[in-house]
Amino acid sequence: MMSEAKEKELSETTKACSWRCLPLDRIRDLVKIADSIHPGLSERADVFAERVKLFPDGCLGLFDPETDELYGYAISHPINHRQPPALDSFLNDIDASADQYYIHDLAILPRARGSGSAQKCLELILTIAERYETTSLVSVYGTAPFWSKYGFEGCEIDDKLRAKLVDYGDDAMYLERRNKQHRNHN
Ligand SMILES: CC(C)(COP(=O)(O)OP(=O)(O)OC[C@H]1O[C@@H](n2cnc3c(N)ncnc32)[C@H](O)[C@@H]1OP(=O)(O)O)[C@@H](O)C(=O)NCCC(=O)NCCS
Repeated sequence: MMSEAKEKELSETTKACSWRCLPLDRIRDLVKIADSIHPGLSERADVFAERVKLFPDGCLGLFDPETDELYGYAISHPINHRQPPALDSFLNDIDASADQYYIHDLAILPRARGSGSAQKCLELILTIAERYETTSLVSVYGTAPFWSKYGFEGCEIDDKLRAKLVDYGDDAMYLERRNKQHRNHN
């Protein structure tokens, strides 16, 4: 068991961690985290790298300020409404008519959780997302209560989207939120 002093030290470290754009040369570190957190939802390094190249502003890493160790990552980008890419697939490009923001993945190593890092990340990502009417994501591992804190809720989906969700596991749910400045409009 971890001592109280060690736990405090770790908590101070993770609180000091900060999010910044993920450089392409850290994709290998990202994949290590992805494979440890999502063992059944594996995606190729080239698939992550393509997202970073296509939409760098939405692809963030959580870094230790002293060691530069990567503790977590977020991959997000615009898509066409309710048309997320299939798991482990290339986007090829971001469609000029993209009208929904999409959070493809947010994952933080267990030792860095519980210090508000996900919250900080979502503040950044949801600011970018404000350009679009809605933001969406595929919730896995029963995380819908976490996402509901940020206004995400279930929505109607068609058979094509339902088929894509199958790859994400039995508990996968497509969630959506109306972005703040679009809330008073229909
Ligand atoms: C989900 C995850 C990103 C949360 O990271 P975190 O650093 O622990 O989150 P934070 O400390 O920023 O917590 C923000 C808020 O969410 C709450 N929260 C965190 N995890 C939660 C969960 N699983 N269910 C409900 N609420 C949760 C926190 O209590 C906190 O609430 P508060 O603001 O009222 O105190 C992290 O647990 C993770 O990487 N999980 C594995 C990957 C995953 O499930 N990603 C999402 C898949 S769609």
